[in-house]
Amino acid sequence: ATDLVGRSFLKELDFTAAEFRGLVELAAELKAAKKAGTERRRLQGKSIALIFEKTSTRTRCAFEVAAADQGAHTTYLDPSGSQMGHKESAKDTARVLGRMFDGIQYRGDAQDTVEQLAAHAGVPVFNGLTDDWHPTQMLADVLTMTEHCTKPLERISFAYLGDARFNMGNSYLVTGALLGMDVRIVAPRHYWPAEPVVAAARELAAASGARITLTEDLAEGVGQADFVVTDIWVSMGEPKEVWDERIEALSPYAVTMDVLRSTGNPDVKFMHCLPAFHDLGTKVSREIHERHGLESLEVTDEVFESKHSVVFDEAENRLHTIKAVLVATLAEPTA
Ligand code: CP
Ligand code: NVA
Repeated sequence: ATDLVGRSFLKELDFTAAEFRGLVELAAELKAAKKAGTERRRLQGKSIALIFEKTSTRTRCAFEVAAADQGAHTTYLDPSGSQMGHKESAKDTARVLGRMFDGIQYRGDAQDTVEQLAAHAGVPVFNGLTDDWHPTQMLADVLTMTEHCTKPLERISFAYLGDARFNMGNSYLVTGALLGMDVRIVAPRHYWPAEPVVAAARELAAASGARITLTEDLAEGVGQADFVVTDIWVSMGEPKEVWDERIEALSPYAVTMDVLRSTGNPDVKFMHCLPAFHDLGTKVSREIHERHGLESLEVTDEVFESKHSVVFDEAENRLHTIKAVLVATLAEPTA
Protein backbone atom coordinates (compact mmCIF):
# COMPACT_ATOMS: atom_id res chain seq x y z
CA ALA A 1 0.00 0.00 0.00
CA THR A 2 2.98 2.32 -0.45
CA ASP A 3 1.14 4.05 -3.29
CA LEU A 4 -0.77 5.94 -0.57
CA VAL A 5 2.28 8.03 0.39
CA GLY A 6 1.20 11.60 1.10
CA ARG A 7 -2.54 10.77 1.04
CA SER A 8 -4.99 11.81 3.73
CA PHE A 9 -7.50 9.36 5.23
CA LEU A 10 -10.70 11.37 5.64
CA LYS A 11 -13.56 9.09 4.58
CA GLU A 12 -14.10 5.73 2.91
CA LEU A 13 -15.54 7.37 -0.23
CA ASP A 14 -12.09 8.79 -1.08
CA PHE A 15 -10.64 5.29 -1.57
CA THR A 16 -10.91 2.55 -4.15
CA ALA A 17 -11.74 -0.96 -2.99
CA ALA A 18 -8.17 -2.00 -3.87
CA GLU A 19 -6.69 0.80 -1.76
CA PHE A 20 -8.95 -0.02 1.18
CA ARG A 21 -8.18 -3.73 0.96
CA GLY A 22 -4.47 -2.89 0.64
CA LEU A 23 -4.61 -1.09 3.99
CA VAL A 24 -6.34 -4.05 5.64
CA GLU A 25 -3.73 -6.44 4.20
CA LEU A 26 -0.89 -4.20 5.38
CA ALA A 27 -2.49 -4.13 8.85
CA ALA A 28 -2.56 -7.95 8.92
CA GLU A 29 1.15 -8.01 7.98
CA LEU A 30 2.03 -5.43 10.63
CA LYS A 31 0.02 -7.37 13.23
CA ALA A 32 1.85 -10.60 12.38
CA ALA A 33 5.22 -8.83 12.48
CA LYS A 34 4.51 -7.29 15.88
CA LYS A 35 3.46 -10.67 17.29
CA ALA A 36 6.55 -12.34 15.83
CA GLY A 37 8.85 -9.62 17.14
CA THR A 38 10.01 -8.76 13.61
CA GLU A 39 8.40 -5.35 13.17
CA ARG A 40 10.58 -2.86 11.28
CA ARG A 41 10.47 0.77 12.35
CA ARG A 42 9.58 2.72 9.25
CA LEU A 43 8.53 6.02 10.82
CA GLN A 44 11.69 7.00 12.70
CA GLY A 45 12.11 10.76 12.91
CA LYS A 46 8.43 11.41 12.02
CA SER A 47 6.12 13.49 14.23
CA ILE A 48 2.34 13.20 14.34
CA ALA A 49 -0.10 15.69 15.94
CA LEU A 50 -3.21 14.20 17.55
CA ILE A 51 -6.06 16.71 17.84
CA PHE A 52 -8.96 15.44 19.95
CA GLU A 53 -12.00 17.70 20.34
CA LYS A 54 -13.96 14.69 21.61
CA THR A 55 -12.90 12.07 24.13
CA SER A 56 -11.30 8.76 23.15
CA THR A 57 -9.75 5.63 24.60
CA ARG A 58 -9.09 3.31 21.63
CA THR A 59 -8.34 5.81 18.86
CA ARG A 60 -5.92 7.92 20.87
CA CYS A 61 -4.10 4.92 22.30
CA ALA A 62 -3.95 3.21 18.92
CA PHE A 63 -2.35 6.27 17.30
CA GLU A 64 0.13 6.70 20.17
CA VAL A 65 1.17 3.04 20.38
CA ALA A 66 1.25 2.60 16.59
CA ALA A 67 3.51 5.63 16.28
CA ALA A 68 5.75 4.45 19.14
CA ASP A 69 6.04 0.94 17.63
CA GLN A 70 7.19 2.52 14.38
CA GLY A 71 9.61 4.97 16.01
CA ALA A 72 7.50 8.14 15.52
CA HIS A 73 6.75 10.87 18.05
CA THR A 74 3.21 12.08 18.88
CA THR A 75 1.87 15.29 20.42
CA TYR A 76 -1.64 15.16 21.94
CA LEU A 77 -3.74 18.34 21.71
CA ASP A 78 -7.13 18.65 23.39
CA PRO A 79 -9.58 21.54 23.02
CA SER A 80 -8.70 23.05 26.38
CA GLY A 81 -4.97 22.86 25.69
CA SER A 82 -4.77 24.34 22.19
CA GLN A 83 -5.97 27.46 20.37
CA MET A 84 -7.87 25.62 17.65
CA GLY A 85 -11.60 26.29 17.60
CA HIS A 86 -11.41 29.16 20.11
CA LYS A 87 -8.76 31.61 18.96
CA GLU A 88 -7.55 29.99 15.76
CA SER A 89 -9.31 28.55 12.71
CA ALA A 90 -8.77 25.05 11.36
CA LYS A 91 -7.15 26.62 8.30
CA ASP A 92 -4.53 28.51 10.33
CA THR A 93 -3.99 25.58 12.70
CA ALA A 94 -3.39 23.34 9.68
CA ARG A 95 -0.77 25.68 8.26
CA VAL A 96 1.06 25.88 11.61
CA LEU A 97 0.98 22.15 12.39
CA GLY A 98 1.88 21.32 8.79
CA ARG A 99 5.20 23.16 9.30
CA MET A 100 6.07 21.05 12.33
CA PHE A 101 4.46 17.63 11.86
CA ASP A 102 4.52 14.92 9.20
CA GLY A 103 0.87 13.97 9.81
CA ILE A 104 -2.18 15.17 11.75
CA GLN A 105 -5.01 13.16 13.32
CA TYR A 106 -8.30 14.94 14.00
CA ARG A 107 -11.35 13.81 16.01
CA GLY A 108 -14.29 16.19 16.42
CA ASP A 109 -17.81 17.03 15.25
CA ALA A 110 -17.64 18.43 11.76
CA GLN A 111 -16.37 16.53 8.75
CA ASP A 112 -15.71 19.96 7.26
CA THR A 113 -13.03 20.64 9.90
CA VAL A 114 -11.00 17.56 9.02
CA GLU A 115 -11.44 18.36 5.31
CA GLN A 116 -10.19 21.92 5.92
CA LEU A 117 -7.20 20.66 7.88
CA ALA A 118 -6.34 18.36 4.98
CA ALA A 119 -6.78 21.15 2.42
CA HIS A 120 -4.33 23.44 4.19
CA ALA A 121 -1.83 21.35 6.17
CA GLY A 122 0.33 20.15 3.30
CA VAL A 123 0.75 16.84 5.15
CA PRO A 124 -1.58 13.80 5.45
CA VAL A 125 -4.56 14.25 7.77
CA PHE A 126 -6.34 11.29 9.39
CA ASN A 127 -9.99 11.30 10.46
CA GLY A 128 -10.17 9.72 13.91
CA LEU A 129 -14.01 10.15 13.96
CA THR A 130 -16.38 12.92 12.99
CA ASP A 131 -20.17 13.04 13.24
CA ASP A 132 -20.34 11.70 9.67
CA TRP A 133 -17.62 9.04 9.33
CA HIS A 134 -15.36 6.74 11.34
CA PRO A 135 -13.04 5.39 8.63
CA THR A 136 -10.20 4.04 10.79
CA GLN A 137 -12.81 2.00 12.70
CA MET A 138 -13.89 0.45 9.37
CA LEU A 139 -10.36 -0.79 8.65
CA ALA A 140 -10.33 -2.49 12.07
CA ASP A 141 -13.79 -3.96 11.57
CA VAL A 142 -12.99 -5.36 8.13
CA LEU A 143 -9.74 -6.86 9.43
CA THR A 144 -11.69 -8.44 12.30
CA MET A 145 -14.29 -9.84 9.90
CA THR A 146 -11.60 -11.42 7.73
CA GLU A 147 -10.05 -13.01 10.85
CA HIS A 148 -13.34 -14.48 12.08
CA CYS A 149 -14.92 -15.59 8.80
CA THR A 150 -13.25 -17.80 6.24
CA LYS A 151 -15.39 -16.53 3.34
CA PRO A 152 -13.98 -14.02 0.87
CA LEU A 153 -15.06 -10.46 1.73
CA GLU A 154 -17.59 -10.28 -1.11
CA ARG A 155 -19.49 -13.18 0.45
CA ILE A 156 -19.52 -11.85 3.99
CA SER A 157 -22.83 -10.46 5.28
CA PHE A 158 -23.32 -8.16 8.22
CA ALA A 159 -26.35 -6.51 9.81
CA TYR A 160 -26.04 -3.18 11.60
CA LEU A 161 -28.80 -2.66 14.20
CA GLY A 162 -29.48 0.73 15.78
CA ASP A 163 -29.15 4.41 14.92
CA ALA A 164 -27.62 4.36 11.44
CA ARG A 165 -27.72 8.10 10.74
CA PHE A 166 -24.39 8.85 12.36
CA ASN A 167 -20.72 7.96 11.84
CA MET A 168 -20.93 4.18 12.37
CA GLY A 169 -24.06 3.58 10.31
CA ASN A 170 -22.80 5.74 7.44
CA SER A 171 -19.36 4.17 7.48
CA TYR A 172 -20.67 0.59 7.58
CA LEU A 173 -23.05 1.18 4.69
CA VAL A 174 -20.46 2.80 2.45
CA THR A 175 -17.62 0.42 3.37
CA GLY A 176 -19.73 -2.67 2.76
CA ALA A 177 -20.84 -1.20 -0.56
CA LEU A 178 -17.27 -0.34 -1.57
CA LEU A 179 -15.99 -3.85 -0.79
CA GLY A 180 -18.86 -5.72 -2.45
CA MET A 181 -20.28 -7.13 0.80
CA ASP A 182 -23.84 -8.00 1.87
CA VAL A 183 -24.79 -5.02 4.04
CA ARG A 184 -28.03 -4.76 6.00
CA ILE A 185 -29.12 -1.66 7.89
CA VAL A 186 -31.79 -2.80 10.34
CA ALA A 187 -33.59 0.04 12.14
CA PRO A 188 -36.78 2.10 12.11
CA ARG A 189 -36.85 4.08 8.86
CA HIS A 190 -36.24 7.36 10.70
CA TYR A 191 -32.83 6.01 11.79
CA TRP A 192 -31.58 5.00 8.34
CA PRO A 193 -28.62 6.89 6.83
CA ALA A 194 -29.44 10.12 4.99
CA GLU A 195 -30.45 9.84 1.32
CA PRO A 196 -27.11 11.12 -0.14
CA VAL A 197 -25.23 8.45 1.85
CA VAL A 198 -27.60 5.73 0.62
CA ALA A 199 -27.26 7.03 -2.95
CA ALA A 200 -23.44 6.98 -2.72
CA ALA A 201 -23.59 3.42 -1.36
CA ARG A 202 -25.93 2.28 -4.17
CA GLU A 203 -23.57 3.74 -6.75
CA LEU A 204 -20.62 1.88 -5.22
CA ALA A 205 -22.68 -1.30 -5.02
CA ALA A 206 -23.48 -1.12 -8.73
CA ALA A 207 -19.74 -1.33 -9.40
CA SER A 208 -18.76 -3.78 -6.63
CA GLY A 209 -21.69 -6.18 -6.69
CA ALA A 210 -22.54 -5.38 -3.06
CA ARG A 211 -26.04 -6.26 -1.80
CA ILE A 212 -27.61 -3.41 0.15
CA THR A 213 -30.70 -3.86 2.32
CA LEU A 214 -32.35 -1.19 4.44
CA THR A 215 -35.15 -2.68 6.47
CA GLU A 216 -37.27 -2.24 9.57
CA ASP A 217 -37.83 -6.01 9.66
CA LEU A 218 -35.44 -7.55 12.18
CA ALA A 219 -35.88 -11.16 11.04
CA GLU A 220 -35.31 -10.25 7.38
CA GLY A 221 -32.35 -8.05 8.27
CA VAL A 222 -30.38 -10.56 10.33
CA GLY A 223 -31.22 -13.77 8.42
CA GLN A 224 -28.03 -15.84 7.81
CA ALA A 225 -25.82 -12.87 8.74
CA ASP A 226 -22.17 -13.64 9.46
CA PHE A 227 -21.89 -10.62 11.76
CA VAL A 228 -24.37 -8.65 13.83
CA VAL A 229 -23.01 -5.20 14.69
CA THR A 230 -24.29 -2.23 16.64
CA ASP A 231 -23.21 1.04 18.24
CA ILE A 232 -24.17 3.08 21.26
CA TRP A 233 -27.60 4.75 20.81
CA VAL A 234 -26.47 8.24 21.82
CA SER A 235 -23.23 9.48 20.32
CA MET A 236 -20.67 11.94 21.62
CA GLY A 237 -21.87 15.52 21.28
CA GLU A 238 -25.58 14.64 21.46
CA PRO A 239 -27.67 16.00 24.34
CA LYS A 240 -28.67 13.66 27.19
CA GLU A 241 -32.34 14.36 26.45
CA VAL A 242 -32.31 12.13 23.36
CA TRP A 243 -31.85 8.96 25.46
CA ASP A 244 -35.62 8.65 26.04
CA GLU A 245 -36.46 8.85 22.35
CA ARG A 246 -33.70 6.38 21.39
CA ILE A 247 -34.67 3.85 24.05
CA GLU A 248 -38.27 3.99 22.91
CA ALA A 249 -37.48 3.62 19.20
CA LEU A 250 -34.46 1.33 19.25
CA SER A 251 -35.17 -1.14 22.07
CA PRO A 252 -36.71 -3.68 19.65
CA TYR A 253 -33.36 -3.63 17.81
CA ALA A 254 -31.15 -4.38 20.83
CA VAL A 255 -28.78 -7.28 20.19
CA THR A 256 -29.98 -10.13 22.39
CA MET A 257 -29.32 -13.88 22.31
CA ASP A 258 -32.69 -14.24 20.55
CA VAL A 259 -31.49 -11.91 17.80
CA LEU A 260 -28.30 -13.96 17.36
CA ARG A 261 -30.35 -17.19 17.28
CA SER A 262 -32.75 -15.72 14.74
CA THR A 263 -29.86 -15.31 12.26
CA GLY A 264 -29.98 -19.10 11.89
CA ASN A 265 -26.16 -19.02 11.83
CA PRO A 266 -24.68 -20.84 14.84
CA ASP A 267 -21.28 -19.24 14.17
CA VAL A 268 -22.61 -15.66 13.97
CA LYS A 269 -20.24 -13.12 15.51
CA PHE A 270 -21.09 -9.95 17.40
CA MET A 271 -19.12 -6.72 16.93
CA HIS A 272 -19.27 -3.25 18.50
CA CYS A 273 -16.82 -0.36 18.06
CA LEU A 274 -17.07 0.35 21.83
CA PRO A 275 -17.69 1.97 24.24
CA ALA A 276 -20.79 -0.22 24.76
CA PHE A 277 -23.72 0.00 27.14
CA HIS A 278 -24.09 -3.66 28.20
CA ASP A 279 -23.96 -3.54 32.00
CA LEU A 280 -24.15 -1.15 34.95
CA GLY A 281 -20.41 -0.53 34.99
CA THR A 282 -20.60 3.18 34.12
CA LYS A 283 -22.12 6.33 35.60
CA VAL A 284 -24.29 6.88 32.52
CA SER A 285 -25.61 3.32 32.51
CA ARG A 286 -26.48 3.54 36.22
CA GLU A 287 -28.40 6.79 35.56
CA ILE A 288 -30.34 5.13 32.74
CA HIS A 289 -31.00 2.16 35.00
CA GLU A 290 -32.47 4.45 37.66
CA ARG A 291 -34.77 6.17 35.15
CA HIS A 292 -35.77 3.28 32.89
CA GLY A 293 -34.97 0.13 34.85
CA LEU A 294 -32.81 -1.19 31.99
CA GLU A 295 -29.57 -3.04 32.65
CA SER A 296 -28.32 -2.89 29.09
CA LEU A 297 -29.23 -1.00 25.94
CA GLU A 298 -27.90 -1.75 22.46
CA VAL A 299 -26.50 -5.16 23.49
CA THR A 300 -27.16 -7.45 26.43
CA ASP A 301 -24.33 -8.42 28.74
CA GLU A 302 -25.04 -12.05 27.81
CA VAL A 303 -24.22 -11.38 24.14
CA PHE A 304 -21.30 -9.09 24.95
CA GLU A 305 -19.65 -11.76 27.12
CA SER A 306 -20.63 -14.71 24.92
CA LYS A 307 -18.47 -16.81 22.59
CA HIS A 308 -20.05 -14.92 19.69
CA SER A 309 -18.50 -11.63 20.78
CA VAL A 310 -15.25 -10.53 19.11
CA VAL A 311 -15.28 -6.97 20.42
CA PHE A 312 -11.83 -7.08 22.01
CA ASP A 313 -10.19 -8.47 18.88
CA GLU A 314 -11.89 -5.58 17.08
CA ALA A 315 -10.52 -3.10 19.65
CA GLU A 316 -6.99 -4.52 19.34
CA ASN A 317 -7.24 -4.24 15.58
CA ARG A 318 -7.59 -0.46 15.90
CA LEU A 319 -3.85 -0.49 16.70
CA HIS A 320 -2.76 -2.57 13.72
CA THR A 321 -5.00 -0.80 11.20
CA ILE A 322 -4.14 2.72 12.36
CA LYS A 323 -0.50 1.69 12.13
CA ALA A 324 -1.16 0.59 8.54
CA VAL A 325 -2.57 4.04 7.73
CA LEU A 326 0.49 5.75 9.23
CA VAL A 327 2.97 3.46 7.47
CA ALA A 328 1.17 3.59 4.11
CA THR A 329 0.90 7.38 4.06
CA LEU A 330 4.03 8.52 5.92
CA ALA A 331 6.81 5.93 5.45
CA GLU A 332 9.34 6.29 2.66
CA PRO A 333 8.41 3.75 0.00
CA THR A 334 10.53 0.59 0.16
CA ALA A 335 12.38 -0.48 -2.97
N1 CP B 1 -14.20 2.94 18.92
C1 CP B 1 -13.61 4.10 19.22
O1 CP B 1 -13.40 4.98 18.39
O2 CP B 1 -13.27 4.22 20.54
P1 CP B 1 -12.75 5.54 21.27
O3 CP B 1 -13.88 6.54 21.28
O4 CP B 1 -12.39 5.08 22.64
O5 CP B 1 -11.57 6.09 20.51
N1 NVA C 1 -21.21 6.74 17.38
C1 NVA C 1 -20.27 6.79 18.48
C2 NVA C 1 -19.01 6.05 18.14
C3 NVA C 1 -17.98 6.00 19.23
C4 NVA C 1 -16.69 5.36 18.81
C5 NVA C 1 -19.97 8.24 18.79
O1 NVA C 1 -19.82 9.03 17.86
O2 NVA C 1 -19.92 8.59 19.97
